[in-house]
Amino acid sequence: MKYFLLTGTSRGLGEALAEQLIQPEHHLICLSRTRTMNTALISAIPPIDYLEIDLNDTDQIATIMEQAFSRIDRSNVEGIYLINNAAVVSPLSRIEQGRSEQFKQNLTVNLLAPIVLTSLFIRLSESFQIEKRVLNISSSSAKNLLPGMSVYSASKAGLDVFSKCVGAEQGDGANAVKVVSVWPGMIDTALQTEARNMDKETFASADIFQMVKDRGMLASPADVATKLIKLLLGDHFIQGTVIEI
Ligand SMILES: NC(=O)c1ccc[n+]([C@@H]2O[C@H](COP(=O)([O-])OP(=O)(O)OC[C@H]3O[C@@H](n4cnc5c(N)ncnc54)[C@H](OP(=O)(O)O)[C@@H]3O)[C@@H](O)[C@H]2O)c1
Repeated sequence: MKYFLLTGTSRGLGEALAEQLIQPEHHLICLSRTRTMNTALISAIPPIDYLEIDLNDTDQIATIMEQAFSRIDRSNVEGIYLINNAAVVSPLSRIEQGRSEQFKQNLTVNLLAPIVLTSLFIRLSESFQIEKRVLNISSSSAKNLLPGMSVYSASKAGLDVFSKCVGAEQGDGANAVKVVSVWPGMIDTALQTEARNMDKETFASADIFQMVKDRGMLASPADVATKLIKLLLGDHFIQGTVIEI
């Protein structure tokens, strides 16, 4: 059995990943603030686990991770995987127009929560001598900088550096946890809708998001999820790298 711990399964890419991870030899544990309305997930056989968590509340993450690991049957586990998918794109504005509470929420959900989750994942999985991998869903926004996205870009650049550094720390030992950051490309999700629907006065780059939608440049969540699962379970999951798919 392969165990998958996945954050942010209510919609978008996380929901698509969850749907595709439902397989006979997979056990999916959704770490999600909002329960999905997706019937494939609700009626999944075998059942999937839901552990409710608001990732703004990082003090709760240890309890949730202990609960998640308590669901693992030690007599039947061949791999454990953490996918840090949940994120917020706001604030979308020039930095002087944002508020500290927005900055804090962005950096907490996008960077601090994945750090805490990865730390606990490595600690709690130490006694499992099996394949262990962490996939951090990052963004090319770490490199391609747009006005009004400084906090989001900083959070994703931080996530990439974190993945590289922990990858170096884990190394290539037999019991190492492999950590990779991935840039999944532009996906047709609520995050994109939020960005293109902002008024241009507040978010100068809204037009760019509208243009990529109009030109059909957004990939479907399902197609991206397929590529990410292939990466997660395949041979190209190279320790401590940032991979663009
Ligand atoms: N869409 C793109 O073009 C694009 C491009 C590059 C990278 N990405 C990355 O891909 C990942 C998925 O993004 P998406 O496009 O699918 O975004 P999305 O549709 O906005 O979904 C975001 C998910 O994160 C969850 N989330 C947000 N705040 C949370 C919190 N405080 N606690 C728990 N969960 C929380 C949401 O749950 P709720 O329903 O509870 O809010 C939702 O399930 C993100 O890491 C994003 O940065 C997206």
